[in-house]
Order: sequence, then C-alpha cells, then structure tokens
Amino acid sequence: MIAESVLILDSHFAENNNGQDIIEGLSKTPKTLPAKYFYDNLGSELFEQICQLSEYYPTRTETAILTQYADEIAQITGVCELVELGSGSSTKTLILLDSYQKKSRNCQYFPVDISSGMLSSAVSKLKLQYPGFLIQGLSGSYDQALNYLQSHHQQKRLIFFLGSSLGNFNELETEIFLGQISETLNPGDYFLLGIDLQKSPAILEAAYNDAQGVTAAFNLNMLSHINQRFRANFNPDLFTHRAIYNQSKGQIEMYLISQENQHVSLKDLDLEIDLKKNESILSEISRKYKLLDIQNQLLNKKIQTLKIWSDSQQWFGLILGQRF
Ligand code: TRP
Repeated sequence: MIAESVLILDSHFAENNNGQDIIEGLSKTPKTLPAKYFYDNLGSELFEQICQLSEYYPTRTETAILTQYADEIAQITGVCELVELGSGSSTKTLILLDSYQKKSRNCQYFPVDISSGMLSSAVSKLKLQYPGFLIQGLSGSYDQALNYLQSHHQQKRLIFFLGSSLGNFNELETEIFLGQISETLNPGDYFLLGIDLQKSPAILEAAYNDAQGVTAAFNLNMLSHINQRFRANFNPDLFTHRAIYNQSKGQIEMYLISQENQHVSLKDLDLEIDLKKNESILSEISRKYKLLDIQNQLLNKKIQTLKIWSDSQQWFGLILGQRF
C-alpha cells in the first residue's frame, strides 16, 4: 500500500548522510549548521507549534489569503496536475485541493517531501478525502523530485511552494532552485509561490523569538539532534537562541550563541571544535521579499507574474506565475 502511494526517490538520503555538511559548516568563520538538522521528530513537532504561535504571523496570513483566493487560482489555471513542494502542512494543501476538486473530481496531486514517513501518512489520509484523485507522493530532495517530474510530464502543471520556504535558501540556492522549477514547467504551466514580505524589524524579530520560547527550543533542539545522530556532546544549556533581522540583507538570521568558552566533540565525524564565549553559529536564514524583486527574479527564469494576492497589511504575498 505505502509503496504504491509514495515513490521513494532516494531511500538512502537520510541514512547516507555522513555529516560532511556539518564538518563544512563548523569549519567556516563564522560557523554555520545546515537547517535540515532542525527536523527530527521533536523538531517537526516544535515546528508545528511555531506555526500556531500568535507572534508567528506567516502561517495564518498565508492560510487566510489562500482561503480567500484558492477558487480564483483554480479558475485562472483550470484543471492541472498539482505538485506541492514540501507538503508538510496539510491545512493549506486542503484549501487548494478543495478548489481544484470543484473543477474536476479526478485531479492528480504529487506531494513532495523529504520525510517518507510523514508523506505516506499524509497520502493515506488524502486518498480517503479525495477518492477520485490520483495521489502520488514523491519522497526525496526537491532536486530529485524535480528531476523525476521533468521526465514525467503529461499535462498542464501547477507547482506550488508555500510557507515562504524559498526564503530559507540563500541567493545562490534560490537561483539554482528557480532554474530547476522553470525547467520542470512547460510553457503555459504555472507556479504558485508564497513569500513573506519586508516589514518592521520588531514584527519580524518577534515572529522568530516568541515569548513562550518555542522557537528557542526548536533552534536548540538541533544540537540534541546532532548529538544523537553523530555522537556529539553539545550541551544545549550552554547555548542561547537569538534571532535578528539583518536589514541590509533583508533577512532574519537565527543563531545559537555559545554562553562560554567551550570544547565540543563530534565523535562520528572525527571533529573537535572550540567555541568562544558569545561566539555564534548561524542555523537558519529567512529572507523577506519586495514583490518587485521576486517578480524580476521569476521573469529571469521565464516565469511571468499573472497575479499577486496579499493581506490588508501587505505582510505576505502569494504570486501566481506562468512559464513562457
Ligand atoms: N519558511 C518559514 C520561515 O522562514 C518557516 C521556517 C523555516 C522557520 N525555518 C524556521 C520558522 C525556523 C521559524 C524558525 O518563516
């Protein structure tokens, strides 16, 4: 059952990961850690909690925009093969699928996610809710999924990428990723992109530094995850969470700050590191956009903006583009 619902594009992605990216990140000045290590079981749970926080406006704002305009989106694109990158949060998915179901009872939906476990349980649920839909999970990296989709192109396609996840890529990664998206679309196909917009630093910083400390716990959990995975001995109590808005770069930067001079061993990686008091490790960036800039970036990749929806405060944007 599960094997049919979810195609494993790289079953060894998690297991094969030998932590080379950690060695590289910790050898840089300033030090960094790859954001993917946020997501073990506890990390995924904490992330779900972040999305419910009153300070964390992006999820509810994007959900409200989608609720209001999903029918219009489906109206513009017509029936499409639907591809969702990073299909984790199901509420937003359901809003779109509902609108497409009104147009056709037997749409195709390809959710893509790195976690095969999450994906197969999501697919099983969706199959019950949309019995006429052909639903095929793709488990792997975006890179692998987009490659697969490039060689399986049957009908008009809409790729959607929500949650301002694009913002977690740096400039170079963004460039490569948008190029891949463009190559996975035929002329006439669509791309729906949810992005967080620039706004006052106070609002942005609160969103990544909530009063209850959930985002702090999420950030610090990365250290525990790395401890388990690579027999390391980070003591999370000796680090604090910090999120600052770097206005010149237009991005939130999340750091783990060492509270004292300390030494850490990562046994499985044969790595020993020293951290100074107040030294920071960058664990995530979240870029905030100007609508005009992102439209131009899309245009450079042969994606023309058809329509943009936003909330009354212009905090979040949903862009529908078409490949030309
Ligand atoms: N893409 C979302 C954002 O940048 C979600 C996210 C990714 C996030 N990493 C995070 C939220 C770390 C809080 C903390 O907001």
